[in-house]
Amino acid sequence: MNLRDDNVSEETKNLIFSLPTDEDSQGKLCKYQGCWYYYNTLQAVINFQTNFQPQDTDIVLASFPKSGTTWLKALSIAILERSKHHSSDPLTHPLLSDNPHGIVPFFEIDMYLQTATPDLTRFSKSSPRLFSTHMPLHTVKEGLKDSPCKVVYLCRNIKDALISRWYFRCKYQNKEVAGSILESMFESFCSGVSFYGPFWDHALSYWSGSLENPKQVLFMRYEELKTEPCVQVKRLAEFLGYPFTKEEEESGLINKIVELCSLRNLSGLEVNKTGKTWMNVDYDSYFRKGEVGDWKNYLTPEMENKIDMIIEEKLKGSGLRL
Ligand code: A3P
Repeated sequence: MNLRDDNVSEETKNLIFSLPTDEDSQGKLCKYQGCWYYYNTLQAVINFQTNFQPQDTDIVLASFPKSGTTWLKALSIAILERSKHHSSDPLTHPLLSDNPHGIVPFFEIDMYLQTATPDLTRFSKSSPRLFSTHMPLHTVKEGLKDSPCKVVYLCRNIKDALISRWYFRCKYQNKEVAGSILESMFESFCSGVSFYGPFWDHALSYWSGSLENPKQVLFMRYEELKTEPCVQVKRLAEFLGYPFTKEEEESGLINKIVELCSLRNLSGLEVNKTGKTWMNVDYDSYFRKGEVGDWKNYLTPEMENKIDMIIEEKLKGSGLRL
């Protein structure tokens, strides 16, 4: 990726010259509105901010990469689609024939990556429209203009998100290369210069947004979804404006949604075992262990200590813990 990238306009190239730049093993990065992007993603972010036309009922699912985006998409789809599919014909449920990423597109990774004016009807396959993003909140808000769209953020422990990103990146690498990639990814996470980093600023943008406007921004945690899935799914449904009725709760519907969206169930579906995104990423690479604390198997005590100290320093006084 370089400044000659075909998808980067002259205007964006000029903008990039005025921005802080850096690079990692995958390409050149620039810092726009406090967040690091590869150049072609920055173009997509700008395309989104300039051209997206929100509808008041739109819902945006946001996260830092590898924080459980796939899971949040699945749960949101299941909540919104439940009246259509649970009682009549459960086998036609969209989650059984498509991956959550095929149903809920990313603004800057899918819709606006190749064109500034995508055909939105091709992308939004749900009603209300569900979209997703890895951009921080202030950048998303520019694209949403003043629309009251609801935004859900799923936050995950930084060390688990790091290990998950490393696995995703190293799927086809041998062990020796993978080890050195982990070291350089760790340093990038710690310095904040990594795709969509700094992690703490990303989470803080949504944390502050949820405190300022709790009706518009919901702050959720991967770890809480793991320990109390039904409570959190109920909370999500209420926030989205689709609360469960007493009858639905008594019929065990929340449990069924949790089960439908479980890693075990989704990863076992044919579409997720064999399908790919339009960018040729295997759907199965979005499902791995789904555990809390898996980082303990990979990071040394020194690494743990270093990252914990950085986080403590960066979050001081915010009330947020990561
Ligand atoms: P691990 O690599 O730690 O297993 P994203 O969806 O943002 O790309 O995040 C991927 C992470 O979420 C992976 O974490 C993956 O296993 C986990 N994940 C995917 N689907 C899940 C589900 N239904 N339930 C719990 N975790 C899930």
